[in-house]
Amino acid sequence: MYILGMESSCDETSAAVVEYKDGIFEIKSNIVASQIETHRLYGGVVPEIASRAHIEAISSITTEALGEAGITLADLDCIAVTTHPGLIGALLVGVNFAKSLAFANNIPLVSVNHIRGHVSAAYLSDKELKPPFLALVVSGGHTSIYTCERQDELCEIGTTRDDAAGEAFDKIGRVIGMPYPGGAALDKLAYEGDKNAIKLPSPALAHTIDFSFSGIKTAALNYINSATQKGEEINRADLAASYTHTIVKAIVKQTETALRESGMKTLVLAGGVAANSHLRSALEQMCQRNGVRFTVPPRSLCGDNGAMIAVSGCFEYLNGRFADTSLNACASDEM
Ligand code: KG4
Ligand code: ZN
Repeated sequence: MYILGMESSCDETSAAVVEYKDGIFEIKSNIVASQIETHRLYGGVVPEIASRAHIEAISSITTEALGEAGITLADLDCIAVTTHPGLIGALLVGVNFAKSLAFANNIPLVSVNHIRGHVSAAYLSDKELKPPFLALVVSGGHTSIYTCERQDELCEIGTTRDDAAGEAFDKIGRVIGMPYPGGAALDKLAYEGDKNAIKLPSPALAHTIDFSFSGIKTAALNYINSATQKGEEINRADLAASYTHTIVKAIVKQTETALRESGMKTLVLAGGVAANSHLRSALEQMCQRNGVRFTVPPRSLCGDNGAMIAVSGCFEYLNGRFADTSLNACASDEM
């Protein structure tokens, strides 16, 4: 079967065609129109600009996705669209477009949770992957640990009490002059600094598997402000290395505890921050130490994309959970 996956929850408009055959997913096309250059001018995502950019791109990228896959609307078995969570104006563009396309062409429509979409990206790169597993989702809006017992379900067992890791990377990146989003640039810069140079508070909350990133963000900002007031030059590489090291260490610690407590033998890493090279290798080492199978999609499938939405949508389809004409979007995690 062919699934068209549509994603517009933040600053990427994406349409993808995924084929599902004999239990295996194959990407036929995955077109991503990124708005990063536009939002960079403002140092972060401007919601209204995001919605307007989605409206402009969505029709042509859908045509491109079908064309690259070599199919037409008539070949589609299902349209899957991200309905939540995300920026409401941005989500509404994708939902309304997918809904119109589905009902005008008599194609079944399914609603997809963006977080489940990120986790589902792992099925595209790891053909052997099967629940049960532990999923760690680290993105611009989320830092959460889930148990996954079924392909279409996630059960949250740990999460951030405030900001997400991606947000924390982007914030400090911006303050030290990196272009938005700062995550990828900090990742590179961290190799040039001393990870033990600056002492920062851990985002791992004691006696839980939850996180809090506001403390480390404030501590890093105080460090920068106090140096600036004294007229001192800060060592950006040392800050990038210490900041990254402290965040990665905390994520590894909570994930290791979650693995031990849940007894899961497989770990899936997902979300935009899963592209972070320090996090990928630290988690891989931790999994090796614990005899846990570690799987993470290639970087191209870590950020927001339609292919991951198509996979998650396929599980909804197989479970007969179809959307009707009343389908709506929702900014929060739960519809
Ligand atoms: O999943 P995503 O594309 O969007 C959300 O659903 O939030 O994640 C975007 C986040 C941004 O905060 C970006 O800075 C971060 O992923 N990111 C990284 C790296 N590449 C992207 N963070 C750290 N290191 C990276 N290499
Ligand atoms: Zn995302």
